[in-house]
Formats: sequence, structure tokens, C-alpha cells
Amino acid sequence: MENSACNQWEREPGIELKPSVSRRNLLKAAAIGLGALGFSASADAAMAASSLVKVGKASAIPLKSGKSYTLKGKYIIVTQPKKGVFKAFTGICTHEGERITAVTGTNMVCRAHGSYFNTTSGKVTGGPAPVALKTYKITNKKGVLYISL
Ligand code: FES
Repeated sequence: MENSACNQWEREPGIELKPSVSRRNLLKAAAIGLGALGFSASADAAMAASSLVKVGKASAIPLKSGKSYTLKGKYIIVTQPKKGVFKAFTGICTHEGERITAVTGTNMVCRAHGSYFNTTSGKVTGGPAPVALKTYKITNKKGVLYISL
């Protein structure tokens, strides 16, 4: 049985956000410059920072449900299992690589063959999927969500 939030989630496909090119180029230039000066650890940190991607407003994620996004070419599901707690997962099922297309209660659902994944941990809760979904670090900065890709 599915809840109404799930259907709303499906009717509203996620928005696609593109990373800031100018920021990325700035970080790459900084990394190259630091590397040339022998600061490889700092260069690595600068490059790692370039993978932080803006998702959107936290208020767009329904409580006890989720929303899909395509970010940097990756299909991502962001959930809010508890008020103010946000989680991010790959939206690609670990069974045979189909997209996860629904959230029902505490589960993300792949309808291809009926696999279920917990909206908090990404662990398999049912179906043929062999392993949990990959998780991404997600940060809420003043009501705007960012994930590390
Ligand atoms: S691909 Fe998801 S259950 Fe088979």
C-alpha cells in the first residue's frame, strides 16, 4: 500500500541543478596553483570541495517521504525520514540497476522486481536487492541542502 506523498513525489519529478562552473574552475585553478607550489594536500582538499553540489531547498523534501534529483548526471533520492533529518542515496537499485521510483512509508521502492530500501539507512528491507543503496553525505545550510558527490 502506498501513501499519497509517494504519488505526489512521482508526479513532481526532481529538478536538475547544474554545478556552478565558475566555482569549479576557480577551485581547479587553486588546486593546480597549490600543487605547483608543493601543497598537494591542500590541492586535494580544494578538489574535494568542488564535489559539493547544491540540491535545493530543504522544505522541498516531504516529511517521511522523498524526492528525486539528477545531479552531475547521477540519479539521487533525498529523503526526510524524521523532521529536519535528511538522507541522500543513489536512486539506482542494487538488484539490476533500475531506477527507484517511489517512497512508501519508511521504504524507497524499486518496482522493477519489488526491492525495498530503508529511507534512513538505505539498507535492503525486502525483495531481491543484494546490498544497500550507496549513501551520500548531505548537509543542511540555512535551509538549503548540499550533497557531496
Ligand atoms: S532492479 Fe530493482 S528490484 Fe530488480
